Amino acid sequence: MSETLYIPQEVSKTEIYKSLLPQIEALIGDEEDLIANLANISAALKEAFDFLWVGFYLVKSNELVVGPFQGPIACSRIGFGKGVCGTSWKEGKTVIVPDVEAFAGHIACNSASKSEIVVPAKKGGEVIFVLDIDSDQLNTFDKTDQLYLEKLIRMIEKL
Ligand code: SME
Repeated sequence: MSETLYIPQEVSKTEIYKSLLPQIEALIGDEEDLIANLANISAALKEAFDFLWVGFYLVKSNELVVGPFQGPIACSRIGFGKGVCGTSWKEGKTVIVPDVEAFAGHIACNSASKSEIVVPAKKGGEVIFVLDIDSDQLNTFDKTDQLYLEKLIRMIEKL
C-alpha cells in the first residue's frame, strides 16, 4: 500500500467510495492493530470527503469513549442510548440524521455540525465501536453513504 491515497476528483460520492474502499482494505489488511487502523480510516475518510468530523467511539465499561478521529475536539464519553452515537449502539444499526436539530437528544460536540451518520461495528453480535461522521451541511448522508460505510465496517469486523 502506498502512503498516498488516490482520490478521484469531480466525481460522484459512489465513485469516491468505490476508489477508496479497496485502498483502505489494502491499508488495514497489513496491520492488525485496531487503533492504528481506525486512525488511518478516519484520516482517509476526512481526506476523501472533507467531512467536518470523522471518528470512532469505542465501547468501554458500558460507555462510548472517543477513539481515533479527525476534526475538532469532541465529547469524550457518551452513554448507552444517548445522542446519535448511543442510539446507534443501542439499536445496533446505522442511524442517518439529515438535520441534527430535529433529532431529539442529539449531542452537539460542535455547533458547526448539521447532519450526521453513525454506523455500528459488532463482534459476536455485540457493538464494539461506532463510526461517527458529522457534516457542516444539512442532508449530507443517504443510502449510498450507508451502503459503503457499512461495507467498510464489515471489512474492519473481519480483522
Ligand atoms: N453528535 C454525536 C456526538 C459525537 S460528535 O458528533 C463527534 C451524538 O449525538 O451522539
